[in-house]
Amino acid sequence: MRELSYPKNKINVLLLEKVDKIAFDLFKEEGYNVESLDGSLSEKDLIKKIKDVSILGIRSKTIISEKVIKSANKLLAIGAFCIGTNQIKFESCNDSGIVVFNAPYSNTRSVVEIVIAQIINLMRKIVIKSNKMHSGVWRKDSLDSFEIRNKVIGIVGYGNIGSQLSVISEALGMKVLYYDIVDKLSIGNAKKCKSLNDLLKNSDIVSLHVDGKKSNTNLISDKEFSIMKEKSILVNYSRGNVVDIDSLIKNIKSKKLMGAALDVFPEEPSNNKEKFKSKVKGIEEIILSPHIGGSTKEAQKNIGSYVPDKIIDFINSGNTSSSVNFPKLSLPEQSDSHRLIHIHKNQPGVMLKINKIISEYNINIKGQYLKTNEEIGYVITDIDSVYNKEVVKSLKNIPATLKLRVLY
Ligand code: NAI
Repeated sequence: MRELSYPKNKINVLLLEKVDKIAFDLFKEEGYNVESLDGSLSEKDLIKKIKDVSILGIRSKTIISEKVIKSANKLLAIGAFCIGTNQIKFESCNDSGIVVFNAPYSNTRSVVEIVIAQIINLMRKIVIKSNKMHSGVWRKDSLDSFEIRNKVIGIVGYGNIGSQLSVISEALGMKVLYYDIVDKLSIGNAKKCKSLNDLLKNSDIVSLHVDGKKSNTNLISDKEFSIMKEKSILVNYSRGNVVDIDSLIKNIKSKKLMGAALDVFPEEPSNNKEKFKSKVKGIEEIILSPHIGGSTKEAQKNIGSYVPDKIIDFINSGNTSSSVNFPKLSLPEQSDSHRLIHIHKNQPGVMLKINKIISEYNINIKGQYLKTNEEIGYVITDIDSVYNKEVVKSLKNIPATLKLRVLY
């Protein structure tokens, strides 16, 4: 039976965007062929490169388009070594039975720490004063400099990052308001706002921690800025599309806003050699950082091992419980058995067809579980007898089949 399962030394892993070396080592230890590149690849280059790749590791810069997926004949899994996954075309991954994993919590703390740092930077004008000193100007004053204690921070998006920021802000003596489209339990003394407007009009500091989905594009634009308090500040460490940059610039220039800190931009260079182009350049009230919210050694180490662990477990046991797009399923390993995984479009009757074929070949099922989401049906079947290529072929030929894997 084992010869029907895919040999590990034929599994090619391609890691892009300088994923932590731990990931390289973990895949290598597993017996896979691993190639790691420093930058991301353009669609054209990725299409060429992906043909023989079974596992692809990316961060936030690599765009996984429909064309890329269509050229990926052998791709089983994509590991997003980051939190956000809107760079990946999920419809295409689902149509090809490709599972996607990410690292939802590994850099949460890192983002929270830098956000706090930037809030203090903005409230004390540290960057402006530092720039002046570098050009020989000594400006000792307390003009527009404030403590953060007792200030109101409005957190938009109360997910992993937003809720941790809430805890630390409160520990520093700030009052916390939050708004989320989903009903979220308030942590500590944080107060839930009924609407985004409610939060905006009552916050001294607005910090954005929503996801970058299309409907969040320009979430903060002219109308929202007009509702914000005079001399408030804005921090965006979420996604670049969330803030309308032209509108932000207008509101900084008119002094409605005292300052802003941005880590993410509508267009970002795809590697360190490319130039950063943006209208915010040269406006010293806006502190800029190059999408480094989650970029600490600690976070990269966490992510570097979290994602490969999940992918290797998926390859070896079929466990999809931490996947982003697949039905979540995990079955304990059974001794003296073989495991088959059938991935199909979620349509009625597929399970019946799978079991009809298995019974026709007189094979006994030791354990079986089907889980579906809107798009995909995922079946793990443990059987006790040795079986042949014919069964595998028949299972593959069931209409609606996306992938069939023989694990052990
Ligand atoms: P999460 O998914 O745990 O939380 C996002 C929250 O935003 C959810 O609770 C969701 O219901 C809420 N939300 C979505 N749209 C909303 C809207 N229009 N109004 C109010 N709430 C809304 O995500 P997590 O882990 O907290 O990450 C947040 C953001 O931070 C993501 O966009 C992620 O890509 C970004 N990020 C940026 C990093 C950086 O280096 N700058 C590093 C890590 C994450």
